[in-house]
Amino acid sequence: MRITDLLPATLFRDKTVFVTGGTSGINLGIARSFAALGASLAICGRSRAKGEHAAQGLRALGGEVRCHVLDVRDADALLAAMEQTGQDLGPIHTLVAGAAGNFPCRAEDLSPNGFKTVVDIDLLGAFNAARSAFEQLKQTQGNAIFISAGQSFMPYAFQAHVGAAKAGIDQMMRDLALEWGPHGIRCNSIAPGPIDGTEGVKRLVPEDMRPHLERAIPLGRFGTVEEMGQVAVFLASPLASYVTGTLLVADGGQNLPGSGIWTQALMRGAGSGN
Ligand code: COA
Repeated sequence: MRITDLLPATLFRDKTVFVTGGTSGINLGIARSFAALGASLAICGRSRAKGEHAAQGLRALGGEVRCHVLDVRDADALLAAMEQTGQDLGPIHTLVAGAAGNFPCRAEDLSPNGFKTVVDIDLLGAFNAARSAFEQLKQTQGNAIFISAGQSFMPYAFQAHVGAAKAGIDQMMRDLALEWGPHGIRCNSIAPGPIDGTEGVKRLVPEDMRPHLERAIPLGRFGTVEEMGQVAVFLASPLASYVTGTLLVADGGQNLPGSGIWTQALMRGAGSGN
């Protein structure tokens, strides 16, 4: 189902949305959903080629699009890109802080710089983005959406670096919601589960593990980038006008703690097909 079958195609007309890491994956899916609903888009990423390709696809949806080649660890570059965006497209109404890096690695094999690299991209990058967008969000009474993950609140093997970064993002999001609420700015996070066709799934889910993981997800399947777009659009829209400081988990139930293997065995016994 297309998002325009669910919501008016003018919902974000005259609104500017800035998406860090918006050149691919979940972030690009989110950017596409906003573009389809009339928003002007600015995306940023480290690869010019990926950025231009993504921008071309977004323009085909009808709106104004700008692409900035930068690294979110570079706070000055991010601030300059946001100021340029404000001049080109109008002040930012929604920030999606989605740029992230991930690789599976045993903690004892991970170098301090490997740990720092992921924390710098994910957590510091999200802070840089929020701080750079603040003045414009204040002007528009806008909102910030942070892309988190189940690693924020569930322990995952080989993900100590990512868990630290994502938990940091979510606590920072709550702190910002508290500080910036009086300015009319809402702050929320999305924790996607495994999303089809993304770099994250390519890195973390070996193909032969996929059927097993799908069986362990209560909804029985991976999610789509379009579904993550729907969640982001909800959080940025007037539908969520009283929602701030929330971590919205959109993972098909993957991170429900439950009782693991015991539950799966019972469900199989009950002939659920799982
Ligand atoms: N296992 C263990 N350590 C790793 C690693 C891996 N697979 N990949 C990188 N590292 C370590 C490096 O060895 C280096 O540490 P060192 O200096 O002690 O050797 C450190 O991480 C930085 O690596 P570098 O390649 O210089 O970082 P980068 O800034 O160029 O790239 C990454 C950042 C490592 C996160 C890279 O994987 C990336 O660009 N990812 C973006 C895409 C992505 O991850 N998408 C999925 C999001 S869910």
